[in-house]
Amino acid sequence: MARKKIIAGNWKMNLLPKEAWELVDGLKEGLVIKPLVEMVVLPQTGLLSLVGELLQDSVISLGAQTSSKYRNGAHTGDGSPDLLRALGCRYALSGHSERRQDHGESDLEVAEQALSQIAAGLKSIVCVGESLSEREAGSYKEKIAAQVKALYSTVPKELMGELVLAYEPIWAIGTGKTASPEQAEEVHSFIRSQIAALAGEAVANLTPLLYGGSAKADNAASLMGKPNIDGLLVGGASLKSDEFLKIYQAS
Ligand code: 13P
Repeated sequence: MARKKIIAGNWKMNLLPKEAWELVDGLKEGLVIKPLVEMVVLPQTGLLSLVGELLQDSVISLGAQTSSKYRNGAHTGDGSPDLLRALGCRYALSGHSERRQDHGESDLEVAEQALSQIAAGLKSIVCVGESLSEREAGSYKEKIAAQVKALYSTVPKELMGELVLAYEPIWAIGTGKTASPEQAEEVHSFIRSQIAALAGEAVANLTPLLYGGSAKADNAASLMGKPNIDGLLVGGASLKSDEFLKIYQAS
């Protein structure tokens, strides 16, 4: 069975309401739907209600950039995954490297976050990836294996089908330095083999694996031409409707 493709735009901490409105408008106007490719936008939390409303009559899916590892309760300032679901989110990111860096999120916390997102009815896009020094030292596979292992040891088997993984080498994020399709494919096929070992072949074969890190319209097709790259998690290039639509069309 063919895996679904996903093109997700991580808007990070960008866009004011009017800019978000214009961007969504441009996407809705220009989108030529590909039945096997889902477009997802991931606005910051404060924009979710607005963007959710704007997407009501559209096939574009909504997602959040993070959420608490708790479902709800006394956790001031955190975001409940139940609320995200109620606001119309279908996806949420977990463990983006910027969150791991800025908030010291550990592999276990990221896995707990993913679990609570799934329990709330969301699909969790869990980000993994190595730093430049880990890449240069040749220890990137160990780093990624540990991240994947924490995830599959925390999420119960019956919920593993709700996971999406995103390989985001930290050295490629916002740097203009994309991993080559061969470098990305090497890691994607490694991640799939790790999932197979931890969760079985069936789960591994069905799990979409996205690549993120300076993905753009002019490298999208070559990255997605690789057998284990099922989509892209796009930062900067998702903030312009024309560019993001080109990336979607290249899938
Ligand atoms: P850039 O596409 O801007 O490199 O960001 C990638 C990213 O972090 C997506 O989550």
